[in-house]
Amino acid sequence: MRETLDIMVKDGPPRERTAGKAVFVKTYGCQMNVYDSERMVDLLRPLGYRPVDDPAAADLVILNTCHIREKAAEKLYSDLGRLRETKKEKVGEMTIAVAGCVAQAEGAEVQSRADIVDIVVGPQAYHRLPELIAKAARRKGEALDTEFAVEEKFDALAKSRSADGVSAFLTVQEGCDKFCTFCVVPYTRGQEVSRKAAAILAEARMLADQGVRELTLLGQNVNAWASVGEDGRSWGLGDLCRALARIDGVLRIRFMTSHPRDMDDGLIAALGKEEKLMPFLHLPVQAGSDRILAAMNRGHTAADYLALIGKIRDARPDIALSGDFIVGFPGETAEDFEATLALARAVGYASAYSFKYSRRPGTPAASMPKQVNETEKDRRLEALQALLRAQRDAFCASLVGKALPVLFERPGRRPGQLIGRTPYLQSLHAYAPASMIGSIAPARILGVTSNALAGEVVGRAEGMHPAVTKAEDAQTPRE
Ligand code: 5AD
Ligand code: SF4
Repeated sequence: MRETLDIMVKDGPPRERTAGKAVFVKTYGCQMNVYDSERMVDLLRPLGYRPVDDPAAADLVILNTCHIREKAAEKLYSDLGRLRETKKEKVGEMTIAVAGCVAQAEGAEVQSRADIVDIVVGPQAYHRLPELIAKAARRKGEALDTEFAVEEKFDALAKSRSADGVSAFLTVQEGCDKFCTFCVVPYTRGQEVSRKAAAILAEARMLADQGVRELTLLGQNVNAWASVGEDGRSWGLGDLCRALARIDGVLRIRFMTSHPRDMDDGLIAALGKEEKLMPFLHLPVQAGSDRILAAMNRGHTAADYLALIGKIRDARPDIALSGDFIVGFPGETAEDFEATLALARAVGYASAYSFKYSRRPGTPAASMPKQVNETEKDRRLEALQALLRAQRDAFCASLVGKALPVLFERPGRRPGQLIGRTPYLQSLHAYAPASMIGSIAPARILGVTSNALAGEVVGRAEGMHPAVTKAEDAQTPRE
């Protein structure tokens, strides 16, 4: 899961204050939270709530929080400080709800540190939001719900699901039983639970009918997903992907985040055979030293990981890899850190995320001896990031001049421009007609900018009506 997102759930233009009520949602942390925020907005829609992008205009403010590293959790408290002023100045009532992993992990502390918080709701209790809002309205400050009941939540949230856009997240699994010694997720998100195949397929069909062309299956350990399939056999994630690929309208499938230990042969075979499965895999390794991997309780060695990558590349030679790393785990020596650099060099990542170890209360690593000092962590992070940046730049440069299939998602900043994604999840902008949104067309990579690729469409779109393709092709604007 990524911690690079800090977004607001937006849905069209801000609503008139006279019609119904307004909800402002701020999302911290990973894609799972983005998904949950979108579902909360869906759930509140029938109650007359429309999303707005200004907390001052909102009747209800939801902060959907992240607890993975200390910085992420601290952000909540500084945002609450700012909201205190907004709430004071606002004419009329403002209800503030703290949702997500901080709510789960330290709900009581949130309420005691911030008296302006009316509702605390954990990740497994979002479906009870309407009830909690009503309760908070009746008796302020009494609403705290952080119980685990994952299946119930999924079913309740799926009922109100609405799609906007070409690409959609679809949570298939939640929770984690791996207990890496640095990580709070097993405590905040609970045990591994898989949604039933039938429910996932039904939601995917509904999304495809609404114009969704790319599905990103989400789970803290997405490749631990298991369920009884439509044919009565036990299915793993590979089977699920194949079934999803048969849905009309679904052109691309991705999944994240995977654990090396759950990367089974069925999934590797599906990656090799199923063209709709994108050749891009996020497979965190965290460290390259076997001693540190053992202390982290990862359950594999560096050699296991490299062998696994070899197997995946044999099955899908064009696969690009992404990963997560932690530097400065307790006891990590200079030599251990060298092993991390060596592993990254051996793999060659297309993109990767790296973090300084952050001591999380209640996790085993927090009380381990030989904590690494911040200066050393900074130094190691800088060295690792320089290597990973160079790898990413080399990967992008290797694509220049090639044609890649691009799924166009939305208009770009300049008139006539569209933004799409390559199979490797890179943003690409190209001049193309708006009617190509939702279809895949080959684009030649012309160059690389700081956070995107520039391309030009060099062939016909797939997934588009032939009559539209013809008429629009003649007037594709060019710079
Ligand atoms: N400190 C630093 N990074 C962490 N991650 C998880 N827990 C911690 C922590 N305590 C990182 C891991 C994980 C990603 C989502 O966040 O790399 O894969
Ligand atoms: Fe955290 Fe490890 Fe589970 Fe990933 S696999 S969520 S890092 S405990």
